[in-house]
Amino acid sequence: MTTLTPIPPLADDLEFLAIVSQWDTEAPHNQWTPAVRVPATFRPAQPSRVFVVTNNKGGVGKTTTAVELAAAWAAMGLRVRLIDGDPQNAAVSYWLGVEYPEDVPVKERYNLRHVFLGTDPTETGEPARDVSLDEATLPTRFENLYVVPCGPDLTRVEYERTGGTDDALKFAIAESREHFDVTVIDASRTMSLVTLACLIAADDAIIPVKPGALDAQGVASINDVISRIQRRQNPKLRVACVLTTMWEKTNLAREVEEQAAEDYPDAIVSPIRKTTSVGEAPATGAPTRIHAPRCTAVADYGQVARLLLNPVSA
Ligand SMILES: Nc1ncnc2c1ncn2[C@@H]1O[C@H](COP(=O)(O)OP(=O)(O)O)[C@@H](O)[C@H]1O
Ligand SMILES: [Mg+2]
Repeated sequence: MTTLTPIPPLADDLEFLAIVSQWDTEAPHNQWTPAVRVPATFRPAQPSRVFVVTNNKGGVGKTTTAVELAAAWAAMGLRVRLIDGDPQNAAVSYWLGVEYPEDVPVKERYNLRHVFLGTDPTETGEPARDVSLDEATLPTRFENLYVVPCGPDLTRVEYERTGGTDDALKFAIAESREHFDVTVIDASRTMSLVTLACLIAADDAIIPVKPGALDAQGVASINDVISRIQRRQNPKLRVACVLTTMWEKTNLAREVEEQAAEDYPDAIVSPIRKTTSVGEAPATGAPTRIHAPRCTAVADYGQVARLLLNPVSA
């Protein structure tokens, strides 16, 4: 039995961003300092909560956001289940070095694909049966942090599952017997059946955007997806937070933030500052929070995690 590494709380003296209810949009660029916008209408979520990190663009910081927020909540003492919903990269599974215990036979090594499709008789030699989310949930090396891994075979869901895909994950979460305070889903950029199921399973969406030349368009496109889901399949889905990732002080970053605040007046909008340590963390097998606990991005994610969820009402 390996010992679990606790994820320590953040130091109090980090360089946290100011929290404001509204930005001073009149302030000239050179006097402008980054701040987290928490509108008076924002209501923190309460356990148990399901968050989906989503954007139909790649490389915007979805996986980073999912891992760092999950780590931040685990550090707050919450039991966190992180679902890897991106078959192309399986980045969460790789990053946190998720491994099946050696004594689990290969045919019983379940992942997210099995939750959607059940067992495969050609693999097990036995009749197919359903697989619960709990059976596909693995501990990580870190206390309070659990992962549902996926691999490239998750794409089989797209052509093998006949019907019922939409709410498969929603029901799998509802039917889970194990208690988790928070579920975080790292969704794929591809609007596949699995991604749709991730959006339908969630209470709150977190949208990371990387302020770049084409990002105003990118934001409009994910907005369309979200509003379609809200209209048809998941009316309770709320955009809780928009994060400008790899944040640097540019007019563009400011424009993207102001646009996000306009699109989602009740949501938190926060910069996540650009930090080299974030790029190094996956190779260390640990969240950035453990690799570089004093860096600005870690302070930013820590602060956003605290603002998004009120654990006291658990
Ligand atoms: N705040 C940040 N500062 C520096 N690099 C970052 C930051 N956030 C993300 N990155 C880097 O950007 C790249 C894309 O991030 P990733 O989380 O994999 O995006 P996605 O999951 O949307 O494809 C990665 O190399 C990651 O390390
Ligand atoms: Mg990713």
